[in-house]
Amino acid sequence: MLFDMENPSGFDPYSLLTRLIVPRPIAWVSSVGKEGIFNLAPFSFFNLICDEPPIVILSISRKDDGCRKDTAENILHTGDFVINLVSVEHVQKVMLTSEEFPPEVDEFKVAGLTPTKVHKVKSPRVAEAKAWLECLLLKQEELFGYDLIFGRVVLVGAESLDYKVLKPVGRLSESFCELIEINQEK
Ligand SMILES: Cc1cc2nc3c(=O)[nH]c(=O)nc-3n(C[C@H](O)[C@H](O)[C@H](O)COP(=O)(O)O)c2cc1C
Repeated sequence: MLFDMENPSGFDPYSLLTRLIVPRPIAWVSSVGKEGIFNLAPFSFFNLICDEPPIVILSISRKDDGCRKDTAENILHTGDFVINLVSVEHVQKVMLTSEEFPPEVDEFKVAGLTPTKVHKVKSPRVAEAKAWLECLLLKQEELFGYDLIFGRVVLVGAESLDYKVLKPVGRLSESFCELIEINQEK
């Protein structure tokens, strides 16, 4: 099968690419808006791109009306955000927080999650998440209508580093997958 990505016809580029680029990590991003309202939403156009210093990237598209998504708006305003780890038991709540709510809606309340103060940034974390990354906005760039957010990780918190405890989840196409470690024999 061949797919001409410069002239896509008869297929959906998003469905194709997200079927082959797997699994994608999920950043469950918490932030705080101008009026002090907390925000929470998942992003899987996300990755770690440098380790010294540690830098992550989020790619955030626009809302249907062309406005910035609340997460991007908040990060540009406050200059920080928190990435919460998604575990198997959080999948349903992740989906709930991905709905397009207006800025005055606090998705922590919608999903019944607990916002908790963190150490180095103003944004809260999800108390129920088993690990979190506190990030400062390094820079933002616009690319074909996407907001690319580069964040510097300034603190990491984790209740464990054992995958059996963390039970991390990835994005598999438009669904989710569990991650299982493969131990290579040396
Ligand atoms: C698992 C998952 C991953 C997502 N990844 C992205 C993404 O990488 N970029 C994006 O713009 N939207 C992504 N979305 C959609 C956003 O979560 C959704 O637009 C959300 O309403 C944004 O909320 P906000 O306006 O509060 O920032 C994803 C949704 C789900 C369920």
